[in-house]
Amino acid sequence: MSNVIGKGVSRVDGKAKVTGAAKYAGEFNVPELTYGYVLSSAIAKGKIVSIDTSRAMALPGVLKVFTHENRPSTAKLDFSYNDQDAPPGSPFRPLYDAEIKFSAQPVALVVAETFELARFAATLVDITYEEADHETDLLLNLDKARKPKSGIASLLKPPPPKPKGDFKKAYNAAPNQVAATYVHAVEHHNPMEMFASTVVFEKDGKLTIYDKTQGVTNSKMYVTQVFGLSGDNVRIMSPYMGGGFGSGLRPQYQLFMATMAALDLKRSVRVTLTRQQMFTFGHRPNTIQHVAMAATDEGKINALFHDAIGETSQMEDYVETVVNWGGMLYPVKNVTLGHKLVPLDVNSPLDMRAPGGVTGIAALECAVDELAYKAGIDPLQFRLINYAERNELEDKPYSSKELRECFRQGAERFGWSERPLEPRSMKDGHNLIGWGMATGIWDANQMFASAEATLTVNGKLRIVCATADLGTGTYTIMTQIAAQTMGMPMEDVLFRLGDSDMPFSLISGGSWTAATVGSAVKKVCEELGKKLFKLAKKMPDSPFAKVKFDDVVFADSSMRLATDASVSVSLQTIVDQNGGRAVTESVTSLPNMLKQSKFARAAHSAVFVEVKVDEDLGTVSVTRAVTAVAAGRILNPKTARSQIIGGMVWGISKALEEETVLDHNIGRFMNHSLAEYHVAVNADIHDLDVIFVEEHDDIINPLGVKGVGEIGIVGMPAAVANAIFHATGKRINELPITLDKIIQ
Ligand code: MOS
Repeated sequence: MSNVIGKGVSRVDGKAKVTGAAKYAGEFNVPELTYGYVLSSAIAKGKIVSIDTSRAMALPGVLKVFTHENRPSTAKLDFSYNDQDAPPGSPFRPLYDAEIKFSAQPVALVVAETFELARFAATLVDITYEEADHETDLLLNLDKARKPKSGIASLLKPPPPKPKGDFKKAYNAAPNQVAATYVHAVEHHNPMEMFASTVVFEKDGKLTIYDKTQGVTNSKMYVTQVFGLSGDNVRIMSPYMGGGFGSGLRPQYQLFMATMAALDLKRSVRVTLTRQQMFTFGHRPNTIQHVAMAATDEGKINALFHDAIGETSQMEDYVETVVNWGGMLYPVKNVTLGHKLVPLDVNSPLDMRAPGGVTGIAALECAVDELAYKAGIDPLQFRLINYAERNELEDKPYSSKELRECFRQGAERFGWSERPLEPRSMKDGHNLIGWGMATGIWDANQMFASAEATLTVNGKLRIVCATADLGTGTYTIMTQIAAQTMGMPMEDVLFRLGDSDMPFSLISGGSWTAATVGSAVKKVCEELGKKLFKLAKKMPDSPFAKVKFDDVVFADSSMRLATDASVSVSLQTIVDQNGGRAVTESVTSLPNMLKQSKFARAAHSAVFVEVKVDEDLGTVSVTRAVTAVAAGRILNPKTARSQIIGGMVWGISKALEEETVLDHNIGRFMNHSLAEYHVAVNADIHDLDVIFVEEHDDIINPLGVKGVGEIGIVGMPAAVANAIFHATGKRINELPITLDKIIQ
């Protein structure tokens, strides 16, 4: 039997990645490719009064400058600009009219024979604007906060439920109270790979589009709707991605630009955004949160208030689940939750790794820590006192929840029992040492997906599905699932993805790809097995003529009797006996909603962090961290560990460094380069340890997996902030915690 599920095998695409054989959207070259360069608006709000392209057009080699005045006609209805991750509202339409809705909005596309020429010509486009007053400051506009519009997105991002019990009464009567305000900065995704689309204008006028996206079916839906093209004439390809983090959940404007230009010029066009332009689309919204909690003398939390106000654009109501987590993590009787939005003159925010979750839990888990201190109880002990055996918010049992084991194993690995409760009680030279912890939780969802499996004429297995690998390990884990299910070595299995001609899959996000596509891959292999069994029965002198399917197993690239391995037929023989024809099967796999909906489904984590804070300089170093994760079955501990480590690194980055700064005078993000937008680098990252706690779950999906894309980040920022409190005695509720906030 090929038991590769659960083995830490190396990435099957690793060699292609490190040798450069793996090609990204901006790297597919075709003859006579042209290049588009996007011009960004210099103002935040107002309109374009005039746009003079004559100096740019005068340069030999410049093909066209597209503006709102000469752009080809596109769809009229908002609906056509929607995509699989569009929030309720009216999606932004590039080059639609003279109106400017946010700073650095794309206002023109210069297309030329070379990239350098397009970029130079763009500097010769003269634009005059009429400026209008803009509002970009969340804190100055809180009076405009209102409830978000609901839409289809609310299915996955449920709004806060109605109040439960009587928060005020319980809070006022409780001996231990905490009330605090938490603010965090805007963040931009900044994957290494820039957004790019290479649109190949084929001889027959069809389009083959290499796009940077977390879902080829999403880009296809957008392109066909916006440009009124038939599905047969558009093929989207995205075999590799240099990181997504949510930024590829919606089609970005380079896709619109390159497609528009290719259709108009009847030429192949590539548009690649600059690093600066990577700060001109979605971002994690600036959010302000109020949390109030109270606990009894014994440390039982009996009152929880969590209210969030996030920014959105004037175009769409970007919603994320910020405040519901406390009601899921703690069995509190008196709960009041709220979430409101303030529309500002910015581009729409966009899902970013653990959207809402990392925001809300950063605040919640700091408040819980503070409340533990009020009650004089160790923060880990406090969480155990308040352990939720079931999800009280949804009034459902958990399908599985090994959080208690995460606490136990994580604390033991970290050495938490040695921790003095008193802040400022550990020192190393002029460094204050602090130990902090937090809990993490993230949804475990399964969507629907289709897949196709083929046993080829050479007896190899080929599986296809139009999903994505963001660098997460999708290629590898799907290969493992297929290999094990068909009883074949991984080398004989080829898993392909990222092509809209393949069987349908939704965008890859929400940590659901392993569960969703994994279930489809498992199912299609099982169905292929049944088909092969039927063929094997019909073979002359078949040893399986009188055997039932339940009595055979697949192993060593053969089908054999479960009770007698010597009764066996190789898969190659079955193909040969099938007239040398390949055998193909396809399926659509749906979540078993009837079974799943009776349960709350989530992955959990316990995070332990050590910081050293220089007392004189206020610099913080996260010297070690342990994350213990319960996320169901771990398909591949090597790629999964890498996912959790990545989340921990980003958690440190979010807690200490990441902040896109808006200059409200001009309504523009100012630090739009990686020199000024700080992310954690090697020098910031020290000892990171990951524990996967065993967790069995027969309800969640046929594989028992919960996904690990987002659980690694959610608990991290609060654990860092709590460690800084333990080191310094200071509660800093504004992220990122930069040194100025520590020494002031
Ligand atoms: Mo994730 S923010 O759903 O890519």
